[in-house]
Amino acid sequence: MYTQDQLKAMVAEAAKEEVLKNMAPGGILGVGTGSTANLFIDALAPHASHFAGVVSSSQVSTDRLKSHGFLVLDSNSVESLPMYVDGADEIDPKGHMLKGGGGALTREKIVAQLAKTFVCICDGSKQVDVMGQFPLPVEVIPMASAQVSRELVHLGGVVTLRKVKGGEQAFVTDNQAWILDVAGLKITHPVELESQINQIPGVICNGLFARRKADVLLIGESGGVRRQTY
Ligand code: A5P
Repeated sequence: MYTQDQLKAMVAEAAKEEVLKNMAPGGILGVGTGSTANLFIDALAPHASHFAGVVSSSQVSTDRLKSHGFLVLDSNSVESLPMYVDGADEIDPKGHMLKGGGGALTREKIVAQLAKTFVCICDGSKQVDVMGQFPLPVEVIPMASAQVSRELVHLGGVVTLRKVKGGEQAFVTDNQAWILDVAGLKITHPVELESQINQIPGVICNGLFARRKADVLLIGESGGVRRQTY
């Protein structure tokens, strides 16, 4: 039986192989955020020179990538990316994902949108039939947080303003915004809900990656890494 950390390390290794197999030298790779993405960055580090550069989805990942010698490029300087590799908090049977546990959802969505292929890497605990057990993160402009909260309550959610770990201050994203975590949703129509939440004034982005879902899933299970395409 593997531990969750071992499963994450196994999928990180498999993602390294996936990227090196599918990307010719000199390409630009999109890189996600989170503990699984961190292991992927570390696994890819010896191959930094294989890439002309990378586009990162958070300051944390940027710092890690730079420390390993990757050239981190501005997302505005690329028109498209062959691949984007990132974790997820939940993934449903169609490859729709719920993300943003680490607070990087907006930048993750921007970089994912540039990519031809989204490779999702996670351990088996993230695979669910219906998303919503994990609270859905919604990034908001701070002055709109109360108003957006009320709208999210109308949708059936229980809303909590994300705070810094162990403190009372609001968690501030890389975009100088706040995050509302919405519990209690049963997300049976993720594409529709993603659009609906995005229509609320003051919402920057929500953590549903349904309109731009995963193309490839590398999932760590008791029998090893399973590869699935959508
Ligand atoms: C970061 O904002 C998230 O979207 C992560 O991709 C997601 O939370 C998965 O993180 P772990 O790999 O740490 O589980």
